[in-house]
Amino acid sequence: SGYITIDPGYKNTGATQSAITFLDGEQGILNYRGYPIDQLAEKSNFIEVAYLLIYGKLPTTQELEDFSNKIKMHTLVHEDMRKIFDGFPSTAHPMGILSSLVGSLTAFYPESLNPNQTEEEMNLSIIRLLAKLSTIAAWSYKNSVGHPVNYPKNNLDYCSNFLHMMFAYPTEEYKINPVVVDALNKLLILHADHEQNCSTSTVRLVGSANGSLYSSVSAGICALWGPLHGGANQEVIEMLEQIKADGGDSKKWIEKAKDKNDPFRLMGFGHRVYKNFDPRAKIIKSACDTILNDLGVVDPILNIAKELEEAALTDPYFVERKLYPNVDFYSGIIYRAMGIPTEMFTVMFALGRLPGWIAQWKELRTNKEPIGRPRQIYTGETVREYTPIADRK
Ligand code: CMC
Repeated sequence: SGYITIDPGYKNTGATQSAITFLDGEQGILNYRGYPIDQLAEKSNFIEVAYLLIYGKLPTTQELEDFSNKIKMHTLVHEDMRKIFDGFPSTAHPMGILSSLVGSLTAFYPESLNPNQTEEEMNLSIIRLLAKLSTIAAWSYKNSVGHPVNYPKNNLDYCSNFLHMMFAYPTEEYKINPVVVDALNKLLILHADHEQNCSTSTVRLVGSANGSLYSSVSAGICALWGPLHGGANQEVIEMLEQIKADGGDSKKWIEKAKDKNDPFRLMGFGHRVYKNFDPRAKIIKSACDTILNDLGVVDPILNIAKELEEAALTDPYFVERKLYPNVDFYSGIIYRAMGIPTEMFTVMFALGRLPGWIAQWKELRTNKEPIGRPRQIYTGETVREYTPIADRK
């Protein structure tokens, strides 16, 4: 007390101890509960990884079945929530809808507001959120295109059900493509947790005031929306489109990114913690080639992305600052090949990050961490006398 140090952006400040995710930015290592990300992306599925992050161990067959059945039982959202959807204009950004509707879950399940929930009650809040976020996400898309919503189908696994809710039309049966299901599992796993990033820290900060799971995650969604965080995946595609429309000269845009008088940054490049490479980006880059190939999609912006990456990685500006492609550089190209519209990319990130937010919120609660309350160094005026309005200049 008395002596305060400031660390803008918390570049060197640890806010908590955590047993969930290990990240070494110098060596490019990322492990969930000790399991390397490449093994999980290759061998696991999203629901199993969600269980791992939240409960700390890989589930047995029985535990996994119980967990996914419980999720399936809660995929419906209250019919009254449909009325909230109806109130949004079709131009609403789906991230705004997502955070509003997750916040509104507190109204439908007020027992979630009790900070002294039993473990069983807490688990029910967790299952409800895991189940309903995919329905809310798909419905936010349907709202944006003015189409009727699809109700969840509980004979489908998590990813297939999400694709059904996104892409099925009442007029025809939607055929689920296993290549797309695999790709979706992989992308969601790669986004599932990333220790104390901006949105997760937001979730923990709100939770530290005994904020409910739903209000904490709603705040996390707003944090993720920002273009320097999860919003970057949408920005990457918009940037690549712009470069293509401009003639596809990647060198010119690299120069723009280096110009300190130009606010343009190479989106999908650089990371606060990874100063070597982002291990998620490596996996996504190779998945991107395979998936586009399997789906028979030829996307000219993939070549632009590769050219940009090559040009940046050999340019002293990027080399000196240790700027490498991050998770968002190639993820959007895969989402696009899967038919997911650009505006939904950050929603996809939120779906993936949800188990991490939940695990971190639960850890904070279980460890009974104190309320988060950073200090400051005051730089304003010293004491002044109040002047009546008539005497002010
Ligand atoms: N393009 C051009 N220059 C960059 C970039 C970039 N993408 N990223 C960093 N720099 C420069 C920056 O201008 C600064 O240069 P200087 O030292 O000359 O002032 C130096 O590199 C260090 O950057 P910083 O902004 O101090 O680093 P940070 O740790 O505060 O920011 C970042 C990290 C991710 C916000 C930043 O790299 C960035 O804005 N990247 C683009 C947005 C992006 O892709 N975000 C997604 C992050 S990964 C997904 C997630 O988990 O959110």
